[in-house]
Amino acid sequence: MLENTLLVIKPDAVEKKLVGEIIKTLENEFDIIGIKLTRLNIQQAEDFYAIHKGKEFFAGLVEFMTSGPVVAILLQGENIQERLRKFVGATDPKKAEKETIRAKYGSSVQYNAVHASNPLENPEQEMAFYFPEYFIDNNTQDSKINRK
Ligand code: RTP
Ligand code: MG
Repeated sequence: MLENTLLVIKPDAVEKKLVGEIIKTLENEFDIIGIKLTRLNIQQAEDFYAIHKGKEFFAGLVEFMTSGPVVAILLQGENIQERLRKFVGATDPKKAEKETIRAKYGSSVQYNAVHASNPLENPEQEMAFYFPEYFIDNNTQDSKINRK
């Protein structure tokens, strides 16, 4: 099934000037539909990661995600939601399979270079968070992104 999903290059990877390399890696494998460099304020980071509210790493995560710019990338491909999670690798870069983005570019469980939407955690909402000017038409067999 043709699907869309979201990847966010986190402040650690932007700071290390890995944006171009990560985009190239993604481009080799998937279709890029949108790219946006932005910076989250505290409220936005808390909203985006609301699912982790109450966890011991939540405050640190919000501080990290607001510490510098992020690059949000909207992607399209066959079964891309599952494929991208595999491509990105485990949360802890040390446990991530070789050749995954986190194994190559992450440095710790917190500073793990990228976020990828989890198919079980509402990817549509995450895509709309960074790309509100697009809408996803779920009424067709294949998912389809259009400009509003
Ligand atoms: P993400 O949401 O960023 O794609 O990462 P994920 O699904 O692999 O991991 P998740 O459990 O959703 O955690 C979200 C992000 O919080 C930071 N984290 N820090 N210090 C810690 O123990 C800890 N655990 C998680 C990471 O930046 C992780 O990606
Ligand atoms: Mg997650």
